Amino acid sequence: MGIKITATGHYLPPQVVSNDDLAKFLDTSDEWIKKRTGISQRHISAGENTSDLAAKAAENILRKRGISGEEIDFIILATMTPDASSPSTACIVQEKIGATKAFCFDINAACSGFVFALSTACHFMRSGMYKKGLVLGAETMSKVINWEDRSTAVLFGDGAGGLLLEESDVDSFVAEDLHSDGSRFMALTADEKKVQNPFLSNEQNEDKQYLKMDGRGIFDFVIRSVPKTINQSIENGGLEKDDISWVVAHQANIRLLEAISKKVKIPLSKFATNIESTGNTSAASIPVLLSHMVDSKQIDIGSGEKLLFTGFGGGLTWGSIIITI
Ligand code: ACO
Repeated sequence: MGIKITATGHYLPPQVVSNDDLAKFLDTSDEWIKKRTGISQRHISAGENTSDLAAKAAENILRKRGISGEEIDFIILATMTPDASSPSTACIVQEKIGATKAFCFDINAACSGFVFALSTACHFMRSGMYKKGLVLGAETMSKVINWEDRSTAVLFGDGAGGLLLEESDVDSFVAEDLHSDGSRFMALTADEKKVQNPFLSNEQNEDKQYLKMDGRGIFDFVIRSVPKTINQSIENGGLEKDDISWVVAHQANIRLLEAISKKVKIPLSKFATNIESTGNTSAASIPVLLSHMVDSKQIDIGSGEKLLFTGFGGGLTWGSIIITI
């Protein structure tokens, strides 16, 4: 049994925050942010939580496919900013979109979350047990950002995107290559919860709510590891680099995409990008970008082009998956 992508969709909260808006309360500038990251603006939630963004992206997907939530067999949602530890954000989305027959759960692999979720969904679908699965990436990064820390506050944005996988006689899944390295977990942390109960012998430190990132360390890790996973997934699929029509990479920094392109020897023109208008939306960045590409007719569903999705981020986690669209 095979899979195919039959619809994409996204939702970005309407409030747009420009670099100049940030420079009003942070010691930063439009020039610094654009030059170091390629970001001009980001969408920031005015109160909508991760499940609200994800449900709107899901409704966008269902509308484009012309089906109702009741036809969905499962929802897998990638996020590092869930509404709560329980229930899963996927279950809240289930309720919002009326996906009454679906089983639902979240995946947390930080900015690699969508690639890991897509891989999981592909393997569920290829078991032949399910007909339709929604794969979503959704984040409200704005709730874990320290808005007084210019080194991280300028990088992130909020949003949600996703795609619908359906069963198919012809299999669109080509190959994958996934990795984690927990020994470097301290490179990116957020919303750390300490044990708090009446039976503690020692006082625990306070929770660390805010995102902390070793930006330079992550930059070096990405340049070393991401070209390798791109090459490995191409090799696993028995393909040549020229067979890949588009690299749909996590949108963290335009300089990272340039460096990856150079190292992997795939022209930058094959790296899709929308970071300029969205910032880094973590697990949402790849599906939002894919949805932008489909909406703008940069790619057509059913065209037979090979897309290489590659994600990287906290954990550390990184990986690639190749799918024919
Ligand atoms: N505005 C102005 N100056 C700033 C800002 C800012 N917003 N932020 C930092 N600076 C200053 C620093 O204080 C430093 O000043 P100094 O030289 O006087 O000490 C200078 O700019 C250079 O700082 P660096 O941190 O060395 O800048 P760098 O060129 O490395 O860029 C950045 C920082 C953009 C964070 C880069 O390292 C990066 O993109 N890293 C990768 C991040 C990433 O990919 N994350 C993805 C994973 S996210 C996830 O998983 C959720």
